[in-house]
Amino acid sequence: MTGQRFDLVLFGGTGDLAARKLLPALYTRHRFGDIDAASQIVATARQNLSDKQFRALMREKVVPHVPKADYDDAAWQKFEAQVGYVGTDANNAKSFAQLRARLIDEPERARVFFLATAPALFTHICAHLAAAGCVTPATRVVLEKPLGRDLESSCAINNAVGAIFAEDRIYRIDHYLGKESVQNLLALRFGNAMFEPLWSRAWVRDVQITIAETVGAEGRGEFYDATGVLRDMIQSHLLQLLCIVAMEPPASIHPDAVRDAKLQVLRALKRFTPNEVATRTVRGQYKAGAVDGQPVPGYLDEPGIKPASHTETFVAIKADLGNWRWAGVPFYLRTGKRMQERRAEIVINFHNVPHAILDVSGSARTNNRLIIRLQPEDGLSLDIQAKTPGEGMRVQSVSLDLQFEDELKARRLDAYERLLMDVIRGRLTLFMRRDELEAAWSWVEPIMHAWAAAGEPPKAYTAGTWGPAASSALIGRDNLAWLEEA
Ligand code: BG6
Repeated sequence: MTGQRFDLVLFGGTGDLAARKLLPALYTRHRFGDIDAASQIVATARQNLSDKQFRALMREKVVPHVPKADYDDAAWQKFEAQVGYVGTDANNAKSFAQLRARLIDEPERARVFFLATAPALFTHICAHLAAAGCVTPATRVVLEKPLGRDLESSCAINNAVGAIFAEDRIYRIDHYLGKESVQNLLALRFGNAMFEPLWSRAWVRDVQITIAETVGAEGRGEFYDATGVLRDMIQSHLLQLLCIVAMEPPASIHPDAVRDAKLQVLRALKRFTPNEVATRTVRGQYKAGAVDGQPVPGYLDEPGIKPASHTETFVAIKADLGNWRWAGVPFYLRTGKRMQERRAEIVINFHNVPHAILDVSGSARTNNRLIIRLQPEDGLSLDIQAKTPGEGMRVQSVSLDLQFEDELKARRLDAYERLLMDVIRGRLTLFMRRDELEAAWSWVEPIMHAWAAAGEPPKAYTAGTWGPAASSALIGRDNLAWLEEA
């Protein structure tokens, strides 16, 4: 298979994201025949490297991140022959002439610039690309998060990039939107008639969205310390998941129909007053503990972290949506580093039956619950009440489980595999529009400001647990509990 021919230029080509995600994703799509043999990938960074040197570097840094089952040396050789390297310096306009010389001018060829660099460089890179004649009206630009650190800096980036690229040429990545289960949530909601009538305050008691990670600040302490989990995860991934759960059914899968529906959710999120920030949010920071049986240091002892840093590594929030569908339904969001398990899931808790006539004393829970699992596996489970075998009319909760990989016998695509091909094919549905991003910042900002004004340190939690006790208390005040069992 061939498909759309393209030139893809990867800024930050020697960086972590390129090595861990982007180049492995491109290799895999190449291996499965989705990349035209005349397409080229040009990595670029400050270093001066020849194509050959970059290919050697890829063998060292990228190959270890390719899933073993997908690696094949002959396939890798064919892939690397389509990858080149050009040194560019984002602060030096002249260095872009060389890059321009590498690009192939063909009307049908897609041209994509993927900016996997610090956002502070986005403005310079776009300006230099334009000045060097690299940007045609059909050229696309991909922006990796974080897009700014607050509303103002995000607007500044969007203005600068928008001066060169039209909005429908800008692909703002949130890789959670590329995950199989997130797409499946769209399929579940809009491909089945049975869920929609239940999908509102009439039947839903509460929604929980958790992204728990076992990793810590890793090798990026400095970046992380200046960012924190509110900016790194809530403002992007958790709010995007919330949008997909809560949005109205769009009229079509057209990018703007979906993005308009998501925007309505972001605009319906109630802004917190400083008092509400104190009662509806919990921020934590991990101290030394053990993850998967291995001792791990506390956040403050990780490399690159400022002494006595107040940066949060855990956040839990009780959010409310001010609209008819969701009025009064709490949306609990929770995410953190160094937690007990790597687990990402969306839990929809339905109300109890309005009138109980059965004996539920042996039941772990009495309400129906739908769980959409994103990590570690993609799956779906629906908890229902079933009769306990034997005499008497006693019921117990059982799970109807679906593991997508087993059931559908299909290869699981990494989020970046899907998103990169969507950019190349010009599909914008899974990328964030400017107004969405700005609405997300507007909701998060009062929380950042109230935390800064209060000046309190985050609550400590032991690495390898589910976060600070205050997080259980946040949901416990509503007589509910986080889903934490397996
Ligand atoms: C990134 C964050 O966007 O998402 C990281 O910057 C985080 O801090 C990562 O670890 C989580 O992604 P995933 O796909 O591994 O859950």
